[in-house]
Order: sequence, then structure tokens, then C-alpha cells
Amino acid sequence: MSKVVHNLLKVILCLGLLCSCNPVTVHKVTSTIFDGVPSLPPTEQLCEEYHEAKVIEEAAKANAPATAAQVKKVVVKGHPPYMEKRCNDCHDKSKDSGLIKPRDQICFVCHPNIIKRYFVHGPVSVGACLDCHDPHSSAQPALLKVEKKDLCAVCHKERRIAESMHKKVTESGMACTDCHDPHDGDAKYFLR
Ligand code: HEC
Ligand code: HEC
Ligand code: HEC
Ligand code: HEC
Ligand code: HEC
Repeated sequence: MSKVVHNLLKVILCLGLLCSCNPVTVHKVTSTIFDGVPSLPPTEQLCEEYHEAKVIEEAAKANAPATAAQVKKVVVKGHPPYMEKRCNDCHDKSKDSGLIKPRDQICFVCHPNIIKRYFVHGPVSVGACLDCHDPHSSAQPALLKVEKKDLCAVCHKERRIAESMHKKVTESGMACTDCHDPHDGDAKYFLR
């Protein structure tokens, strides 16, 4: 099979998988268009990747995977005091907030040195750690609530002053955190 045909076939297979993970339909479509389409691999094999991606997506959304078997690849990272069931290190039923300290102070109890430098990011300076972090667990690294690549855009929808530069670097696939520290910095804009 020529390379072009092979690539076309791949595209069609992918499209087919996106619409429905029904390899028979996919095979019908492709074999109508091309001669010499190889016989199908087993359904499970063909759909495994697709399903795995779906499961990971679902688990990340729910933040609570259904069964161990479904999530062989999803690593849910837990906060040590939560994983060790030291709930009372943070929770106190007798307080109005239900927490040992108000929401904007609780994280500093065990992370007193998280702000180390002169320039401090707005939400960090007011103790709004929970805007970005989950206190218990997350499917993202560093207990982040959303994927790191989507995090900054949750709040930063305003137009950049350095707009064309940002457009260029983000189009090239760089992440905001490649250049900016999320917490603080010695330089303006917490540049690394
Ligand atoms: C590191 C501190 C910390 C630890 C340890 C911790 N929690 Fe929490 N928990 C919080 C904070 C902060 C909130 C409030 C979250 C918010 O308002 O966004 C919360 C919220 C909750 C809620 C309200 C619903 C929710 O999920 O937002 C429940 C229920 C809860 N925690 C149970 C527990 C249990 C059970 C444990 C122990 C296994 C535990 N927590 C350990 C900090 C903690
Ligand atoms: C009772 C103590 C305690 C409190 C309160 C606490 N933490 Fe932690 N946290 C820890 C410990 C212990 C670790 C693991 C060691 C470390 O990284 O310092 C940790 C680690 C982390 C990490 C790194 C996790 C990783 O996988 O890289 C994040 C993020 C974090 N904490 C956020 C928070 C936030 C947000 C709050 C407030 C809701 C908070 N912590 C409150 C004890 C605490
Ligand atoms: C604007 C979002 C944002 C806010 C607000 C925020 N963080 Fe983070 N935090 C991050 C990101 C992103 C990382 C991962 C850093 C990396 O991978 O470069 C991180 C990493 C961490 C870590 C683990 C690595 C380290 O730097 O020690 C801890 C602990 C932590 N944050 C605690 C906190 C605490 C405590 C607060 C509140 C005072 C807070 N964060 C507020 C985005 C945030
Ligand atoms: C929870 C909302 C929130 C998130 C998420 C967030 N920011 Fe911010 N950011 C703010 C606020 C509020 C300010 C202060 C606005 C101001 O000073 O005008 C700020 C200010 C900044 C500034 C300084 C702007 C200036 O003109 O001084 C930079 C740089 C920045 N953020 C980068 C980031 C990056 C990079 C991320 C992702 C890691 C991020 N922010 C995620 C809320 C957020
Ligand atoms: C290649 C490194 C790089 C990347 C990637 C990057 N920035 Fe910047 N950012 C900078 C530099 C350098 C400045 C300072 C520009 C200046 O001084 O005019 C800046 C300035 C800023 C400012 C303040 C001034 C302005 O232009 O509005 C904000 C807010 C900001 N960046 C947010 C972000 C966010 C959000 C992302 C991810 C979408 C991001 N940056 C990605 C390097 C970067």
C-alpha cells in the first residue's frame, strides 16, 4: 500500500473511532474506498486506546474512578494528610467554616513558606489556594483542579499587553508555567 493511501486510511480509521467505536462500520467504509485493506485486528485491540482515553477523561472529570480495573493508567494523586486520613488536621466540626482555620489561611498552616519572593501572584497573596488546588486529591499533578495547560485561562481571559509575543509562544506549544511561576518570583510577572 502506498504511503498516501496508508495515511488516508489512518485518518478515516480515526474519524470512525471518534464517531463510534465500531470497527466493522469503519472497515466497511474503508474497504469500499480502498482495495487491499488488511483484515481487522480484534475489536478489543482496535478500541482499547480509544476507551482508555475516554476512561481517563471521565475519571479526571469525576475525580473518582469507578473501578480499579477501569483505571489502570489513571493515577489519582492524594494530599498526604488526606491519604493518611488525618482529616482533623484541617477539619473542625465545632467551627463555622468546618475547618481549623478560615479557607484563606488553612494552607499556610503546613505550607508557611510557600510565598518566598517579592512579587506575588494575586490569588496566592490572598490565600486563594483552593482556586487552583484541590485539598484532597486530584488526577492532575500537584493536586491541581484542572490540567496545568488549561489552568491560567480559567481566570486570564483579558487581552495581554505583550499580545503578539504571547500568541507566538503559546502557538508554538509552550505552557504559561514554562515562563511564569504560578506563585511568586524575584522578577515582575513572576518570570522564571
Ligand atoms: C489539607 C486539609 C484537609 C484535609 C487533610 C482534609 N480536608 Fe476535607 N476539606 C478541606 C477543605 C479546605 C475543604 C473545603 C473545600 C472547598 O471549599 O473548596 C474540604 C471539604 C471537605 C468536604 C466537603 C465536600 C467537598 O468535598 O468539598 C468533605 C465532606 C471533606 N472535606 C471530608 C474530608 C475527609 C473525610 C477527610 C479525611 C479523609 C478530609 N476531608 C481531609 C481540607 C482538608
Ligand atoms: C496538615 C498539614 C497540611 C495542610 C493543612 C496542607 N498541606 Fe499540603 N501538603 C502537606 C504535606 C505533608 C505535603 C507533602 C510534603 C510537601 O510537599 O510539603 C503536602 C503537599 C502539598 C502539595 C504538593 C502535592 C504534590 O503531589 O506535589 C500541594 C499542591 C499542597 N500540599 C497544597 C495544599 C493546599 C492547597 C492546602 C490548603 C487547602 C494544603 N496543602 C494544606 C501537608 C499539608
Ligand atoms: C494560580 C494557581 C495557583 C494558586 C492560586 C496556588 N497554586 Fe500552588 N501550584 C500551582 C501550580 C500550577 C503548581 C505546579 C507547579 C509546577 O509544576 O511548576 C503548584 C504547586 C504547588 C505545590 C507543590 C510544589 C511547590 O511549589 O512546593 C504546593 C505545595 C503548592 N502549590 C501550594 C500552594 C499553596 C499553599 C497555595 C496558596 C497560598 C497555592 N499553592 C496557590 C498553582 C497555584
Ligand atoms: C484564580 C484566578 C487566577 C488563576 C487561575 C491565575 N491567575 Fe494570574 N492573576 C490573577 C489575579 C486576580 C491577578 C491580579 C490581577 C492584577 O494585578 O491586575 C493575576 C495576575 C497575574 C500576573 C501579573 C499581571 C500584572 O499585570 O502584574 C501574571 C503574570 C499572571 N497572573 C500569570 C498567571 C499564570 C501564568 C497563571 C497560570 C499558572 C495564572 N496567572 C493563573 C488570577 C488568576
Ligand atoms: C516564552 C515565555 C512566556 C510564556 C510561555 C508566557 N508568558 Fe506571559 N509573559 C512573558 C514575558 C516575558 C512577559 C513580560 C512582557 C513585558 O514585559 O512586556 C509576560 C507577561 C505576562 C503578563 C502581564 C503583562 C501582559 O502582557 O498582560 C501576563 C498576565 C501573562 N504574561 C500571562 C501569561 C499566560 C496566561 C500565559 C499562558 C497562556 C503566558 N503568560 C505565557 C513570557 C511568557
